Amino acid sequence: MLVYVTRPIPQPGIDIIERAGFRVERNLEDRALTRAELHAAVRGRDGVLCLLTDTIDAEVFDTAGPACKVFANYAVGYNNIDLEAARTRGIRITNTPGVLTDATADMAWALLFSTARRVAETDRFIRTGAWKSWGPMQFLSADVTGSTLGIVGAGRIGTNMALKSAGFRMKVLYTGRRPNTELESALGARRVEMDELLAESDFVSLHVPLSDVTRHLIDAAALARMKPSAILINTSRGPVVDERALVEALQDHRIAGAGLDVYEDEPLLAPGLAELENVVLTPHISSATLTTRTRMATMAASNLVAVLRGEEPPNPVV
Ligand code: DGY
Repeated sequence: MLVYVTRPIPQPGIDIIERAGFRVERNLEDRALTRAELHAAVRGRDGVLCLLTDTIDAEVFDTAGPACKVFANYAVGYNNIDLEAARTRGIRITNTPGVLTDATADMAWALLFSTARRVAETDRFIRTGAWKSWGPMQFLSADVTGSTLGIVGAGRIGTNMALKSAGFRMKVLYTGRRPNTELESALGARRVEMDELLAESDFVSLHVPLSDVTRHLIDAAALARMKPSAILINTSRGPVVDERALVEALQDHRIAGAGLDVYEDEPLLAPGLAELENVVLTPHISSATLTTRTRMATMAASNLVAVLRGEEPPNPVV
């Protein structure tokens, strides 16, 4: 059977597919395939290992053809895939949950601290040679310890981030469809409505999947509910935030800052975002530790191999 991998991934993933006896063809260039290239690449394959940057829809499934049994996504999020189109064609979709939870939560903390304590801004400052002496009024910033952390979406990653707040003696608020007993018993966290979370939190950290319900969850109205001193952290998906509204809120100092790893139209940024001093921007790297990316590769490969062997994959989405 013939498998296609849409971009270079850690070798242990490729090894799993080859050891299972399947032939691997792959994009060896470290860039996303164009739409035309993606179509050409998937044609006639039995399975595809794809990325969050590949839009996998009905057209792609039809190009792949009737032999294709699985698209194994190299990500926990799967908003790049039309699940209904997969379901109606009997194509299995899998993802990589769990293995990137710690790395993503760690990155949310990295962004929170860098934004709150102005790390990136002062790094830029010191490199210009402008620092002449220590000063009592220089770069005053916000306290993290003892502040209120608002977790929007207390699933795997949101819960992990919240649990890591214990050392900083933070009050934790969260939103979620169900009570999170782990957070409530470990931290005394309180489940609240979105409006209360936005109004009370010093740090609002987003951990919801992208869906029709969560698209622009953080819009101008939501930003207006936040404290002027509050900081927004997004390691989930860019379109959860109305990025243009966020730029306006930051320009007008209606909120104090933002730490962002994801963007509405990656790799493009909303006009004005990159010019702001009160933001810390990273290029969608929350899961980018060597160990995590290797685990994602082996997990996606194991899912793909299981389906091609006629077995139930460990991490099915569809
Ligand atoms: C995911 O897995 O969904 C992240 O965005 C990338 O690792």
